[in-house]
Amino acid sequence: MKALVLSGGSGTRLRPFSHSMPKQLMPIANKPVLEYVLENIRATGVHDIGIVTGDRGDQIAAALQDGSRLGVRLTYLPQDAPRGLAHAVITARAFLAEDDFVMYLGDNMLPAGITDAAAGFRAARTAAQVLVHKVSDPRAFGVAETAPDGRVLRLVEKPREPRSDLALIGVYFFTPAVHDAIAAIRPSARGELEITDAIQELVTRGAPVRAVEYDGYWKDTGEVADVLDCNRAVLDGLRAARHPTASVDAASELTGPVDLGPGVRLVRSRVQGPAVIGAGTVLEDSQVAPYTSIGGGCALRRTYLGNSIVLDGATVTGMRGIEGSVIGRGATVSAADHGDRHHRLVIGDHAGVEVAA
Ligand code: DAU
Repeated sequence: MKALVLSGGSGTRLRPFSHSMPKQLMPIANKPVLEYVLENIRATGVHDIGIVTGDRGDQIAAALQDGSRLGVRLTYLPQDAPRGLAHAVITARAFLAEDDFVMYLGDNMLPAGITDAAAGFRAARTAAQVLVHKVSDPRAFGVAETAPDGRVLRLVEKPREPRSDLALIGVYFFTPAVHDAIAAIRPSARGELEITDAIQELVTRGAPVRAVEYDGYWKDTGEVADVLDCNRAVLDGLRAARHPTASVDAASELTGPVDLGPGVRLVRSRVQGPAVIGAGTVLEDSQVAPYTSIGGGCALRRTYLGNSIVLDGATVTGMRGIEGSVIGRGATVSAADHGDRHHRLVIGDHAGVEVAA
């Protein structure tokens, strides 16, 4: 069995971060989403992974290289444009050859993994196996109607009036039968070749398609609120760790699970876990509240920050109440200390700022 990871697309919903990085590299608890994806695939015993990339493919290749660091073998498959999930399979046709494969959307987080689902597919080897998850509003997803025995009866992509509450998770298992079905479909109203339509085509042809309900945590990290939610879910499983080169002075305090990377320096600061702090980051006279991930090479001074993600190289100074925020790479956030009552903002395209009234 092989795997196909989809990491192209435009990621417009994750602006402004997607202006400068592919959304699949967004760090959750200081690790890019794509690394969780590859680890989950490796745990199923699949090592031969094709990775479909778009115009940010160079950044993905720079981060993952040949995959050996993560114990997998990566083949990069550039897609000419984001023409849909089924088009990505066409792009990967030669790589996939006549093998069964798991297709995994590179922005989907399933911290509990997919080993049971993979075992179920290997045992039943239906033409396709999809994973579904009950959601309160399925309109933003593919939606499945299923029989009590798990057989898929009908699939619709982003229906305006969903006929069930079962959303399609972005992890699909296929036999090579899917290639013929993809060849038979036409672009959808949004102009994409939808994998949902290809699976529906299999159903229409009478091929066995099974839905497995996945009851673990699942998130499509398409939007900033989802990324923060996911960060909290992953940090819930964090174990305390301290790199031997991390230093915590006598006036600093750690409570709960806190992970300090190499060279982290805490000076007169308090960190309440779960929280993770990346290599070389310095905290002075600051407080970090639970559910916070701070990347590497950051500096926090006289700052309170909680339930947030700070990306590499950011500097935050004199900010006493940052909550539920995502601060981009190399960004600078500071409170003026010279009595000036005005806000001075230099903010990138599509950024969002909400200040206390
Ligand atoms: O997350 C689950 C949902 O993913 C499913 O419920 C939907 O049925 C499925 O169509 C998909 O919907 P999205 O609208 O969320 O897909 P998105 O455009 O975000 O693309 C998913 C991933 O695939 C993302 O990592 C980008 C990548 N991609 C996307 C397209 C359209 C490609 O690599 N190539 C593409 O052409």
